[in-house]
Amino acid sequence: MATDDLSPGTTAAREALLAAARRAARQAYASRSGVHVGAAIRSAAGQIYSGCNVENAAFPLGNCAEPAAIAAGVLAEGRDLRIAEAVVWAETADGKPFAISPCGGCRQRLSELAVGPGVLVHFAWPGPAMRGVTLGELLPFAFRMSARPAGSET
Ligand code: THU
Repeated sequence: MATDDLSPGTTAAREALLAAARRAARQAYASRSGVHVGAAIRSAAGQIYSGCNVENAAFPLGNCAEPAAIAAGVLAEGRDLRIAEAVVWAETADGKPFAISPCGGCRQRLSELAVGPGVLVHFAWPGPAMRGVTLGELLPFAFRMSARPAGSET
């Protein structure tokens, strides 16, 4: 799907996305950091998928919330899933908002399946207000597999 097909969410759609991310954050298993993260994506097909972070006593084994939301979307829509908008939300164990910005790896994950570089990701950084930043701004020069050897793209 071309970048031009990007359809920015209405305020109501954005509120639904935030609500889904907040619900997901409450399900988080943040046994090490205490940072409960929820991510929600709206697919180009108009569906909302969410996920939470899951940590582990063996620290490096933890998973971020974004790949959980993406996996839920791929499970439902298959490999054609495309992300039209996303929200990342974090809070403490007792429900206090926690400033978060999507980590580098998750920027790449979102970018690969996004409708285009204009896709907005909303998050509270430095907080408390939410901001919407495009994936193109969050991750310029995103990695892509290229069928051609470096230097051959003229
Ligand atoms: N985390 C996410 O779930 N998404 C991000 O984009 C940044 C960080 C999680 C990972 C870890 O479980 C906790 O936040 C603290 O780093």
